[in-house]
Amino acid sequence: MKLKNDLLLRAAKGEKTERTPVWVMRQAGRILKEYRAIRGKLSGFIELVQTPELAAEVTIQPVDILGVDAAIIFSDILVIPEAMGLPYTMEEGKGPYFPDTVKNQADFDRLKIADEDSLGYVIEAIKETKKELNGRVPLIGFAGAPWTIFCYMIEGKGSKTFSLARKMLYTNPTLAHQLLDKITDSTINYLKSQIAAGADIVQIFDSWAGILPAGQYETFSLIYISRIVEAIKDVPVIVFAKGAYSSRKSIGKISCDVVGLDWNMDIKESRMLVGSDKTLQGNLDPAVLYSDIGTIKTETRRMIDQFGNIKHIANLGHGVYPDMDPDKVKCFINEVKEYSSRK
Ligand code: CP3
Repeated sequence: MKLKNDLLLRAAKGEKTERTPVWVMRQAGRILKEYRAIRGKLSGFIELVQTPELAAEVTIQPVDILGVDAAIIFSDILVIPEAMGLPYTMEEGKGPYFPDTVKNQADFDRLKIADEDSLGYVIEAIKETKKELNGRVPLIGFAGAPWTIFCYMIEGKGSKTFSLARKMLYTNPTLAHQLLDKITDSTINYLKSQIAAGADIVQIFDSWAGILPAGQYETFSLIYISRIVEAIKDVPVIVFAKGAYSSRKSIGKISCDVVGLDWNMDIKESRMLVGSDKTLQGNLDPAVLYSDIGTIKTETRRMIDQFGNIKHIANLGHGVYPDMDPDKVKCFINEVKEYSSRK
C-alpha cells in the first residue's frame, strides 16, 4: 500500500524532503495515560507485548496523540533472548530479569537460533498495526544489536557496568563470539520476518555500545551489526549505537542508511566522521523536555540548524523518560515540523 506520509523513508534514503521527519524513541509507553490505561488492565508488560491487537493499539497511540511521522512496533529487544531459550520477566520499577543466563559452553549449547515461529506474536502485531495504520505513516521494526542482547543474556538484568559481559570478552572470547554469532543469526531471521510482515524500515538499538573501548567495539559489536545490515536488502536500516563516540567513523563505513546520534555527540563532528552519504538521526538531549516551552523551541531550532536541514531525521538523543509531560513532547514534535518547513 502506498504511504500517505513517507517523509521518514525518503529522508532515510537521503532524498530532500519538504520538511524534517520526526519520531521519538520510546514514544509508545508510560508517558501516555492512554498507554497506562491499557497496560493497567493486563498482568504486565509482557502480556501486552504478546497480545497483537493491544500491541497494535499502543503502537498507534503516539501517531494519533503526538503526531509523529512514524510508528514503532510496540515490543522489546528482549524477545530475542526469550526466543533463543532464555525467558525473562519485567519487574515493576526495576526492569528486565532473566532467571537463567549464559555462564558456560553448556548453557550456550542449549540455545537455539530464533525463528519466526517463536516470535509469531510480534509478526502478528506488525500485520495488525499495518492494517490499522492504513498507510498513514511508515512502521519501524527493530531489534537490539547483538552486543546489547549479549549483555542481558550474560548478566541477566540491567547493570551499571555489565562487568560479567565485559569479563567474558577477555576470559572466553571464543564463547563470546559463538554467542554473538547465534544472536546475529536470530536477529537476521527476526528482522526479515518483520519486513515480510510489513515493517517499512528497521532500527538496530545498540544501547550499551558506549561501554566498550573502540577496538573491542569493532570486534565484538560492529562486525555483527554490519552482518545484519548486509543481510537486509529491502528496507532502509538505522543504526543507533549509544555512546559509540570513538567508532563513528567505522559506523559510517557499514552499509546502513541512517546513523543515530545520542545527545552528547557533536552534530558537525559526527557529520564529518560519518561522511556525507548517510542520513543522521537525533539528537536533542531528552532532558530538554523538562524545560519550559520557550527553551524547548529554541533548543529544537538550534538542533535543526546544526544538522543543516538535510539528510536528517529528528529525534531525541535517547528514549523519552517515563515522567515526561506528553505536551512537552508534542511541543518538540510541532517545532520540528514548523521550523524545518520554513527553511
Ligand atoms: O516506543 C517504543 O520505542 C517502542 C517500544 C520499545 C520498548 N523497548 C518498550 C518498553 C523499544 C524500542 C524498546 C527497546 C529497548 N528495550 C531497549 C533499547 C532502547 C534503549 O532504551 O536503549 C532496551 C535496552 C530495552 C530493555 C528494556 N525494556 C529495559 C531496560 C526496560 C526497563 C526500563 C524501563 O524503562 O522500565 C524495558 C521495559 C520496557 N520496554 C517498557 C517499555 C514501554 C516499560 C515497561 C512497562 O510498561 O512497564
